[in-house]
This record gives sequence, C-alpha cells and structure tokens, in this order.
Amino acid sequence: QDDLKRAVSAAALDDIDNLLTPDAVIGVGTGSTANHFIDLLAARRHDFRGAVASSDATEARLKSHGIDVLELNHVGTVPVYVDGADEIDARLRMIKGGGAALTREKIVAACAERFICIADASKRVEILGGFPLPIEVIPMARSYVAREMVKLGITPVYRDGVLTDNGNRILDGYDRLFDDPEAMEAALDAIVGVVTNGLFARRPADVLLLGTGGGVERMT
Ligand code: A5P
Repeated sequence: QDDLKRAVSAAALDDIDNLLTPDAVIGVGTGSTANHFIDLLAARRHDFRGAVASSDATEARLKSHGIDVLELNHVGTVPVYVDGADEIDARLRMIKGGGAALTREKIVAACAERFICIADASKRVEILGGFPLPIEVIPMARSYVAREMVKLGITPVYRDGVLTDNGNRILDGYDRLFDDPEAMEAALDAIVGVVTNGLFARRPADVLLLGTGGGVERMT
C-alpha cells in the first residue's frame, strides 16, 4: 500500500505541474498518503511560493523539508488542495478525518479551486459509511451531540484521549451507511456543538487519483 500511496502522490505532482509557479501557494492535506505527497513535493520547493497546511503535523513536515508554510487568512484562495481520504465514492464524495484533521481540511478544501484526492484502491466504496464518520465537537457538547447522533441512526463512540489541533474532541459515528451524504452532512452540521463532520459531500473532490495494482486511475 505504501507503493500505491507513493504512486498516486507522484501522479498528483504531475497533475499540478503547471500550477507550480513562483507565486503559487499549494494546499496540503494530512495523513500517510499526504505525507508521501509532501516528501515528493519537497524536491520542487524552489518552483513555488509555499503551502497552506491542514494540520500541525503537516505544517511540521512541510517545514522540515524547507517548504514555507503560509497562513490561509493571508493567502485567500489556493489553486489546488491535495489530500487523502478514508473513503471515496463514485461521485468523489468522501469521508475524512480518520486522523482528526477534518476541520482544517474542510476549510482549506473550501478555499481551493481544485481538490485532488489521492488514495489507494482500498478507499474506494459504493456507499459511504463503512468507515466510522469522524465528528469534531466542542468539548462541553460531546454528550449532547452524541445523543443527537443516535436520533440520526448513528452510533457515537468517543475517541478517548484525542484532542484536535483546535482543542476539540472527536466522536466517531458507526452503524450507518449514507445513501444521501449531502443531507446527512447538512443535518450533522445543524447540531449545536458540532464544529465539523467528516462527510465531504457538498464539496466533493474534483479529481481522484486512485492507486490500483494495474496503475493509477484518474477520475473526474
Ligand atoms: C486526516 O484527518 C484524514 O482526513 C486523512 O486525510 C485520511 O484519514 C487519510 O489518511 P491516510 O492517507 O493515512 O489513509
């Protein structure tokens, strides 16, 4: 799987080749797949201005390679955001947040002209929801949000000991497949105390680079 992650990262670098210009700031995701992308991007660090990071871990890794990390508020929009996913369907809707970085990931994705998802074939599903859905909550709302999740048919499990980069908590949602992920994304966002939920349906990826045994498949 490491080979597949490296292959899709190399494909992403090819995909954004024309975007790597001296003024360009690239949005960079979080996770083991995104880490491969960061390591490859490092060789091109003199070709672009810098990056916006979707987590403290990504920021540290970018900086360790000598890539400048800029604040999103100073950048505005980014031409492209490259990130992994926990699940992705045929319409390029995703579940993200297995690494607890979903909120900053969703913010950078919202500011990106193009979202390129890099993933190995194990992430491709027919219906989202096999992977537990991460939900970032304000700490004092944890129990209330859990009860509201139950009303939506989702079994909440507290991710014990995890504090997000934003100082919040994570509830993982089990036992529910999402046949209408856009509606569920909106319903979860409407619960008071929810900061972000891990459904990326209303803003799906624009491009999927999927690593398979037969090579990298590109889907739009
Ligand atoms: C981080 O919070 C997640 O959204 C990651 O993008 C997702 O978990 C994919 O991670 P891997 O590339 O490690 O599978």
